[in-house]
Amino acid sequence: MKLGILFSGRGSNLGALIDACADPDYPAEIVIAICNNPNASGIATAEKAGIPLQIINHREFESRDTFDAALDVTLKEAGVELVCNAGFMRILTDGFVSSWHNRQLNIHPSLLPAFKGLHVHERVLTAGVRISGASVHFVRAEMDEGPIIAQVAIPVELDDTPESLAERVLACEHELYPMAVRLVAEGKARVQGERVIIEGDPDMKAAPLFIPPLGK
Ligand code: GRF
Repeated sequence: MKLGILFSGRGSNLGALIDACADPDYPAEIVIAICNNPNASGIATAEKAGIPLQIINHREFESRDTFDAALDVTLKEAGVELVCNAGFMRILTDGFVSSWHNRQLNIHPSLLPAFKGLHVHERVLTAGVRISGASVHFVRAEMDEGPIIAQVAIPVELDDTPESLAERVLACEHELYPMAVRLVAEGKARVQGERVIIEGDPDMKAAPLFIPPLGK
């Protein structure tokens, strides 16, 4: 399956997907990475890996519609079949989202539907929840909403700071995103009534939620 990755910053999830796609047995390849921020450090990650890269600076467009139209054309020209948002910090128009319906994924560093939006780890610690994690879901018009494909859960430690929690969650994201993309690329994650059904390989029954050992 041909992937188009949208990112805005550090690009560590882009890096995780690049690494996954380097395995000849992985059922997807990155045909383009698009970054809206010319100063993003993740640009170097794409360049180093030799991934086709386009910088489409949203500031050079007069409206969200024209920016999203440029994204859409670039993705289509590259032959993209599945769009993967990986730390993409722009709100997409309803038109863009509906034209990639069930063909666009996002990763979010919480156990959705809890803690949508920004400053997740601060809010997790303030709320005092004992378990946090990350989710990969199909994109819908509302931010961080849509059918959930896979989640990872990790314990929140008593002495966690937003930074320490973010670091542990991010390490899990790097396993979760390639796993979720694999499920979609192999046709094993199917949307049925706004829930995702995982089918096929019986081993995959346990895949949508994985809980790493304590302390990881
Ligand atoms: C990740 O935590 C992801 O879940 C969120 O934005 C962050 C992006 O990190 N959507 P990176 O740019 O992939 O390192």
